[in-house]
Amino acid sequence: MAAIWIDGKNLAAKIKEWVRAEGAALVRRPGLAVIIVGEDPASRVYVNSKRRDCEECGFYSEEYALPDSVVQGELLELIGELNSRTDIDGILVQLPLPKRLNEGEILLAIDPSKDVDCFHPVNVGKLTIGQPVFQPCTPGGVMEMLEEYHIDPAGKRCVVLGRSNIVGKPMALLLLHAHGTVTVCHSKTPDLAAIAAEADILVSAVGKTGLVTADMVKDGAVVIDVAMNRNSEGKLCGDVCFAQVAEKASYITPVPGGVGPMTRAMLMKNTLTAAKLHQGL
Ligand code: GUN
Repeated sequence: MAAIWIDGKNLAAKIKEWVRAEGAALVRRPGLAVIIVGEDPASRVYVNSKRRDCEECGFYSEEYALPDSVVQGELLELIGELNSRTDIDGILVQLPLPKRLNEGEILLAIDPSKDVDCFHPVNVGKLTIGQPVFQPCTPGGVMEMLEEYHIDPAGKRCVVLGRSNIVGKPMALLLLHAHGTVTVCHSKTPDLAAIAAEADILVSAVGKTGLVTADMVKDGAVVIDVAMNRNSEGKLCGDVCFAQVAEKASYITPVPGGVGPMTRAMLMKNTLTAAKLHQGL
C-alpha cells in the first residue's frame, strides 16, 4: 500500500489565511517580537520565515538580532521591555541560545501571556495538567494535521522518538490528552526499533537521517517526521527513509512540506490568540 501524503504546506496556508482574517477583525493587529542571538545559519532561516509569515498574516513584527557577545542582563532587560509593550503580543526567543547564556532564566522572564512558544514553566505546567494554554507549535501542528486527516489518536498506540522540551515531551502530552497510549523512546532506549514497530502513530523527532527504516514501521501506521536534517548531498530530509516507509504506512508527512510549515502556522495562530487575550476577547 502506498501511503497518503499529509500535506502540511497546504494546511498551513489554510490556517494562515484564517489567522489573517481573524487578525484583520481586531481593533489592533497582532504583534510578534523575535529575538535571535548570534548567526546560527539554521536559526537565521527560521527567523526570516517567521518575518515572512507575519507579513502574510498582516501582523506587526519586530526582530532583534543580537550579537553572540550579548550578556544575560541585556537580554533580560529587552524581554522586560517587550513584556510591558502593548503593541507586542508574542515574544519568541529563537533557540538554541549560546551555551554561556542561562536559557532557563531567559524563558522564565517572558510574560506567560506572551509566551507563544509555550516554553515558560507556568505554561508547560498548564499544558501538563490540561489547562487552556498556547499549543506548543510543532506538536500542536502535528495534532492539527492528524485532525485534518481524521486520524484520531484515541486508543491508538503512539510512539514518540525523541524527548526534547521543544518536541518530544509536549508531543507525548498532546497525544496523551487525545487519549493515545504513548511511549517515548530516546537514545538510551533498548529495542527502540521493536517499540517503534508497534506504533499505530509514529512520530520521529530525533534529527538523525535514515533513523526510521521500513522494518521499524507497522503496516498501515501513520508516520510523522518532525526532523529537519541535511543529507550527504545537502538536501533537506527528515529521520524517515521516506520511499521505503511510504510503501508500508497509511499516512506519511514529507520533508520538506510536512510538519515544518505547520510549526510556523501554529506560531501565527498562537500570536493571534495572544492578541485576542490582550484585547480582552
Ligand atoms: N528552535 C527550534 N525550534 C524552535 C521553536 O519552535 N521555537 C524557538 N523559539 N526556537 C526553536
